[in-house]
Amino acid sequence: MNQPPNRRILLIDDTPSIHEDFRKILMPAVASNQALDDMESALFGDTAKPQAQLFELHSAYGGEEGLGLLTTAMAQKHPYALAFVDMRMPQGWDGAKTIEELWKIDPDLQVVVCTAYSDYSWEDLLFRLRAHDRLLILKKPFDNIEVQQMANTLANKWDMARRASLQTSYLEQLVEQRTQALQLEIDERKHLESQLVQSEKLASLGQLAAGVAHEINNPVGFISSNLSTLDSYFSQLQQMLAAYQRCEELITLPEQRDQLRTLRTDLELDFLKEDIPILIRESKEGIGRVTQIVKDLKNFSRVDNDQTWQFANLHQGIDSTLNIVASELKYKADVVKHYTPLPDIECLASQLNQVVMNLVINAAQAMGPERGTITISNGVEGENVWLEVTDNGCGIAPETVKKIFDPFFTTKPVGEGTGLGLSLSYGIVKKHQGDIFVSSELGKGTTFRVVLPIRQTAA
Ligand SMILES: Nc1ncnc2c1ncn2[C@@H]1O[C@H](COP(=O)(O)OP(=O)(O)OP(=O)(O)O)[C@@H](O)[C@H]1O
Ligand SMILES: [Mg+2]
Repeated sequence: MNQPPNRRILLIDDTPSIHEDFRKILMPAVASNQALDDMESALFGDTAKPQAQLFELHSAYGGEEGLGLLTTAMAQKHPYALAFVDMRMPQGWDGAKTIEELWKIDPDLQVVVCTAYSDYSWEDLLFRLRAHDRLLILKKPFDNIEVQQMANTLANKWDMARRASLQTSYLEQLVEQRTQALQLEIDERKHLESQLVQSEKLASLGQLAAGVAHEINNPVGFISSNLSTLDSYFSQLQQMLAAYQRCEELITLPEQRDQLRTLRTDLELDFLKEDIPILIRESKEGIGRVTQIVKDLKNFSRVDNDQTWQFANLHQGIDSTLNIVASELKYKADVVKHYTPLPDIECLASQLNQVVMNLVINAAQAMGPERGTITISNGVEGENVWLEVTDNGCGIAPETVKKIFDPFFTTKPVGEGTGLGLSLSYGIVKKHQGDIFVSSELGKGTTFRVVLPIRQTAA
């Protein structure tokens, strides 16, 4: 903001002698006095004598030429503070036209009209130029001191206007910065609030889930063990039935023998013998799934958690998880890996594997009939490592994105999704003091980004 004062003046007049006069008034030779001044200060010490500041005068002999000088000055960001413009210039533009053109290029330029005689009345001129506050009139023949004072005053006025405008834009900038900072604060607050809501929701659901899981665990336990017992009892019964059937032919009373045969055919005993084991097997599978869900619920509610924190390599975790889910991916997508070397991170490794598994399986399930691509990339960013799982599957609608981390939210058919994958993953990532983000475009694909601190406690 501390620029030197602008002392540049443009003089537009078709009479060469006027230029000489102005030069003498505004740029008096000071060199000859300098020696005297030096001697004076050597003899009497420094005397604070106010010095009139010199001007830098540029000459043009017609309106067009003046406009040329002004245009160049503006392009070089070296504007004039003021211009003296002769009113009557018989060749080319007259003063009024010249001033109009000058102001098109630089509306801040202060102007003094010099004239002895004009084709306009002053009122007409002021009306035409509509700029009473940037225009002064200097009548010829002019007084030297008048010219000097005008030049001083208008140059100072130009400087003050420039300072005021710089100050204003500086203030505007400050306001803008402050507004941005406030907006950031508001956004951050909103973000924290939503995280708080999410984790409170998870905590209360966690308790509920823990209770439900506990309640379900007992009946599931005895159903599952009863099914195994039933299975073995039934195979014993099968042996018994086979033995009876073999004896059927030995029954001598035809009536009883026929009764038995009819009963056997009516009951479709052969079919029952085949079907009962299938039913038992399916029930066992079903109960196995329930057991898995209960296990997930327990994980989700962080009960039964006997894991220890350790430093582990994320690449190994991802690779072993990919091996486990290979059969799920085989017909759905190719996996592309963009690994960069990662430091070992302090984590609950098997839980992180679960996060990777959920993300990769979701990505595979998002694929349509066509084979897709799942890209897994990772890297280091400051004190954190990040992991991204990107798919080119169906994408997620904007109104759905808000819900995907909610427990039990699923868009998948019954039996395919329980809606726990992402809420579990969210919980695990939060437990690691990390973050999980999603960006998705419907029909294009989805990226999940997980950010995890390398260390759980500052080193
Ligand atoms: N990569 C993805 N592409 C498209 N939609 C996704 C993706 N990942 C998650 N979703 C959406 O988010 C929902 C919730 O995902 P989440 O993993 O929590 O549950 P789920 O996959 O439906 O069931 P689960 O993981 O328990 O088997 C999904 O049903 C699906 O609508
Ligand atoms: Mg899932």
